[in-house]
Amino acid sequence: MLQRKLNIANLDTPIQKLDQLSNAVGKHIYVKRDDYTGTEISGNKVRKLEYTIQYVFDNHYDTVITTGAITSNHARATAALCAKYNLDCHLVLRGDDAIFEGNLFLDTMLGAKIHQIDSQSSREDTMLELHSQLKSEGKQPLIIPVGASDWIGTHGYINAYEEILKQEQTMQVHFDSINVAVGSGGTYAGLWYGNYLNKDHSKVIGYAVDQSATVFSDKVQEIIHDLDKSITTFDSITINDNYVGLGYGQATDDELAFYIEIAQQEGIIFDPTYTGKAFRGLISEIKQGNYDDQENILFIHTGGLQGYTEETRRRIQQIIAAQE
Ligand SMILES: Cc1ncc(COP(=O)(O)O)c(C=O)c1O
Repeated sequence: MLQRKLNIANLDTPIQKLDQLSNAVGKHIYVKRDDYTGTEISGNKVRKLEYTIQYVFDNHYDTVITTGAITSNHARATAALCAKYNLDCHLVLRGDDAIFEGNLFLDTMLGAKIHQIDSQSSREDTMLELHSQLKSEGKQPLIIPVGASDWIGTHGYINAYEEILKQEQTMQVHFDSINVAVGSGGTYAGLWYGNYLNKDHSKVIGYAVDQSATVFSDKVQEIIHDLDKSITTFDSITINDNYVGLGYGQATDDELAFYIEIAQQEGIIFDPTYTGKAFRGLISEIKQGNYDDQENILFIHTGGLQGYTEETRRRIQQIIAAQE
């Protein structure tokens, strides 16, 4: 296990109870506000990058290459940390449309070099080519995988698990489950492993935002295996892929209406790509009775508000106008 990390995120993040929703569904619903970890660095990514960027320093790299969608939160958080720590930052961003807003705007403002590729191209191959080119120019580049979801980055959520245990003691509550969005697996893997190390009784439940539960379960196992080869049983990995909807970054009107309802009921905004889908999944599963054995339920808000594109914002405006 890695011991060293940067201390750049605003930690511990608070845990808040959603009172009205709790009353409505008959459970105690809590949200851990990992969207409060920062501004440029907000969300779950910075917890992982605290370890990854420390690893960059400890191994004398001077350049970072990473990847994600054009709208990637991970890319934006990486760009911010590279700016702060004077590292060259290359972002391989995949997507056919590149509207200069949200994270792409922030990436550019933060000084990252953007390499846009179309949706058919391989992110990994492009990163490898870039790696060779930068090496030939005398740079020392490290490739950080999508979402910083590897054995290094996942430490951020092993750490977050310890933070939750401490908060449980202060709050005098035990969470029967910890629920989170799954986009590249590193957040879930860290929580699962934190749960395992602490022999805790909480269930760790993931909600996939694209791809299948099997794909993510394999990815999580791979990350944990790289960290701890002694684990052979992964039966408790629980990933629900019933709420992927139209796919990555796509939202139905019903989903958007749900995010509006929660915003207006609780004053909390979930993003349309990750946390919204996962939280909607959680509430739907509770309503179907699939959390009947649980009383205290924790959801981790992993950030992502920059994901409200102009098109989504316009649709939300229309939905609200139609409700009036
Ligand atoms: C806002 C947000 N929430 C959740 C996730 C999912 O986390 P992970 O990639 O570690 O599965 C991501 C990234 O994929 C994200 O940007």
